[in-house]
Amino acid sequence: MTAITLTVNGQSVNAEVTPRTHLADFLREHLLLTGTHIGCEHGICGACTVAIDGEIARSCITYAAACDGADIRTIEGYDDDALMGRLRKAFSEAHALQCGYCTPGMLIAARDLIRRKGGLSAAEIRTEMSGNLCRCTGYMGIVSAISKVMAERAALDVSSLTVREAGLGPAPGPAASKIEPAHEVALPSSLPGSGRVRNAIETARTSRIASSRTELAKKPRRIKVEVGAIEEVAGVTRLTQSFLLEHPRDAVWHLMADIDAVAKCMPGMKIDGPVRDGRATGRMEIALGPIKASFAGEGTVATFPAEFRQVITGKGGDRRSGSSASGEVAYRLRRVAEAAGVEITRVDVELSYSLTGPLAQFSRSNLVRDFVTRIGESFAQNIDAALASPAGAEIAPARLRLGSMVWRLALDRLLASVRRLFHR
Ligand code: FES
Ligand code: FES
Repeated sequence: MTAITLTVNGQSVNAEVTPRTHLADFLREHLLLTGTHIGCEHGICGACTVAIDGEIARSCITYAAACDGADIRTIEGYDDDALMGRLRKAFSEAHALQCGYCTPGMLIAARDLIRRKGGLSAAEIRTEMSGNLCRCTGYMGIVSAISKVMAERAALDVSSLTVREAGLGPAPGPAASKIEPAHEVALPSSLPGSGRVRNAIETARTSRIASSRTELAKKPRRIKVEVGAIEEVAGVTRLTQSFLLEHPRDAVWHLMADIDAVAKCMPGMKIDGPVRDGRATGRMEIALGPIKASFAGEGTVATFPAEFRQVITGKGGDRRSGSSASGEVAYRLRRVAEAAGVEITRVDVELSYSLTGPLAQFSRSNLVRDFVTRIGESFAQNIDAALASPAGAEIAPARLRLGSMVWRLALDRLLASVRRLFHR
């Protein structure tokens, strides 16, 4: 059992839960908050939607243990909420419910939509609400009720409903600033001589940002990361990723051979102290919306300067979720090309790891690809910014938008179901 403390509808709750108890069951069976409905238990129907730290989430695919410290709001917690009150009335007036099973989740999702957006057409509201399924109404009344309340949005003062950003958006970089999409280096499909390399060099040569390191430090540029095939063999997930940096290989190596500097560029990673005899201890923190894990562990570092290659092996555990991880990351630097005074270095990363415990669900390839791409982009962007501004910049903790990952998972499951249906 895991002891958790969380706030539910403004009340502090202490409880002991099994690691696999999902939040929806916890709310319904432990706290008797049965307004949270359970339909599919697969993250598809949205009946179980609640707000976690202000962001809506599927409680049927969220572990209660992962919500330790979180602020949960269920449909029962909106009794005094003006916007929710308006939505309830509009749902009733527009006949937006029949059996009402979908309604709690539908209302929470609709309130969140109106909090975030206004002026949407009926078609756009349908798209935005497509994560909540209703088997009775045909959606006409639901869309019309939401349209009606959305039209009153200005008078409802939704600005006061802004929540703190608990989710995770684009890969965070130094100071978690907005990523400028204007300067993107395409990864060559092969080494020197390919057209794409020449294009990359030309992009670099003509880039206004590359010509001004000072400006670059202010505006971290996006580095495209290519993730190769993801394999899972005997519980070990393996993948490769690569990215290009417009910096000389020696400079990149100088930084990437320094584990402390690498850790500073890796969102969520902290090293306890200097590496001694090739060994270090530290912590990797990840936040997938309400799912937070902190893997404490130790690792060894093997450096091969002649090959511009470094291999880091480590293992650790997350006490809260009872998950453990072990893995290896190896990176190698290659000088790709030099032209117009710009040397381009290609960083090839090989990653292998195995996860056990509740977080092992993140071995699913689409989730891994999403996660690894975003972490890789953050890392590459931070390395690039650190090289451009050796004084360094504040690196934001790694946070990924739970919604995108859960939706990818949900969509995969939905598509798999549809495929099964049509192949019967
Ligand atoms: Fe959670 Fe369907 S019960 S999405
Ligand atoms: Fe019955 Fe929506 S009103 S499922």
